[in-house]
Amino acid sequence: MSYDQNTFANLISHAKEYGYIFQSSEIYDGLSAVYDYGQNGAQLKKNIRDAWWKSMTQLNENIVGIDAAIFMHPTTWKASGHVDSFSDPMIDNKDSNKRYRVDHLIEAFADELKTKGSADKAQALLDAMDALLAADDLAGIKKLIEDNNIKCSISGTCNWTDVRQFNLMFSTELGSVSEEASTIYLRPETAQGIFVNFLNVQKTGRMKIPFGIAQTGKAFRNEIVARQFIFRMREFEQMEMQFFIRPGSQKEWYEHWKAERLKWHKEVMGTPSERLRYHDHVKLAHYADAAVDIEFEFPFGFKELEGIHSRTDYDLGRHQEFSKKKLQYFDNELNQNYVPYVIETSVGLDRLVLTVLSNAYAEEKWAKEDGSEDSRVVLRIPPSLAPNKLAVLPLTKKDGLPEIARDIIAGCKGFFHCFYEEKDSIGKRYRRMDAIGTPYCVTVDHQTKEDQTVTIRYRDTMTQERIHMNEVAAKVLAGLAL
Ligand code: GAP
Repeated sequence: MSYDQNTFANLISHAKEYGYIFQSSEIYDGLSAVYDYGQNGAQLKKNIRDAWWKSMTQLNENIVGIDAAIFMHPTTWKASGHVDSFSDPMIDNKDSNKRYRVDHLIEAFADELKTKGSADKAQALLDAMDALLAADDLAGIKKLIEDNNIKCSISGTCNWTDVRQFNLMFSTELGSVSEEASTIYLRPETAQGIFVNFLNVQKTGRMKIPFGIAQTGKAFRNEIVARQFIFRMREFEQMEMQFFIRPGSQKEWYEHWKAERLKWHKEVMGTPSERLRYHDHVKLAHYADAAVDIEFEFPFGFKELEGIHSRTDYDLGRHQEFSKKKLQYFDNELNQNYVPYVIETSVGLDRLVLTVLSNAYAEEKWAKEDGSEDSRVVLRIPPSLAPNKLAVLPLTKKDGLPEIARDIIAGCKGFFHCFYEEKDSIGKRYRRMDAIGTPYCVTVDHQTKEDQTVTIRYRDTMTQERIHMNEVAAKVLAGLAL
């Protein structure tokens, strides 16, 4: 399965046209890599978040959810290692003043080499880059860029600054009087809110190891190269779960969560297997002893969707050291105190929205009976995730049909989101609902007044059938459970 070259651009404009995703502060020409979700996007995002929350906290009796604040004590980020190590190597072109992440600059050049038929040269370049990055050899990286004559796409020159590390955390000041103010950070991951609450939750919830703490919430990173729509944003949402385990059992639990999370993407998000793959990390983050990405085939290639990390006792150990408070667990079975090890699952909610939209978006054409061509753009979003489940459409605005349509909505809206529309021809209204991704449409016509039947139309097959209006809610609910 692969994407048409134009599909991504079409998907972005579709997401805007149908109330899914807007550029932030668009009337002021937008803010780079920051996006707002419209009426349909916010509901889709909430449905995905709810599905994740349910799979973690409702379906696992040993996982509970919390909601920690975005602002945290500044020492949190010293202890976690983010102040010292949460950075990307950057280089600036002196002629255009454009800043690049060096790995992106080199990877783009390797892609050019591949398209020109020099796949071996491209691979050698990428291998050399990986080795230099793993060794933190910034001078070596600059030399690699110069030796390969890699140019800035704007100035076309090779006039580069030295490579420098650039910290990705946003900082701000807490306190109104400048002398009293202290620098705090907007969290770059939600995980630390879980670590610092480990004992609070364990004790108040009487949790026994192994157990997990889940959280969803905003995270912020000053990404230098922010592009590809909502794939890489400066303000985004994460859904993370830290699973606390006995030291020594990390391999087993790492494999468990690796398999569980891949299964979730297939079964709950409806992502086809061929668009998902594992990618083992070569260079491990400062806190991990094993790490894998679940990658999705986005319209611009396979990229990270979710990370599963074996974080050892690094975070709890560091918070214990910096706070001077014991963050240990007494294991009754072993009769022993220890700092638990952690397996983390971390997925970006915005990347999941992009995944669901990429899977769902289809431009379809077919021949009609009279030989002419018909077409539609449809979002085949899984019904359980779609923003609206049912549209109720009176054929005309008169003869009591709108009142019947309103009655049907009154009987359904307690169970799921409904949409009412009476403007335009019925054909146009169906097309609009296809474009928004509404899985079921019900049309109320004059026959409804005679025998209380309505036409139900299915988005994916475009087939229609006549059912009693009292059956509508049950029919839609049955479709959502599939
Ligand atoms: N706590 C671990 C952690 O934060 P990460 O791999 O840096 O690990 C986890 O991030 C997930 O967060 C990624 O797999 C991705 O889905 C999402 N993510 C990270 N940076 C992002 C960004 N700039 N924009 C959108 N999503 C992002």
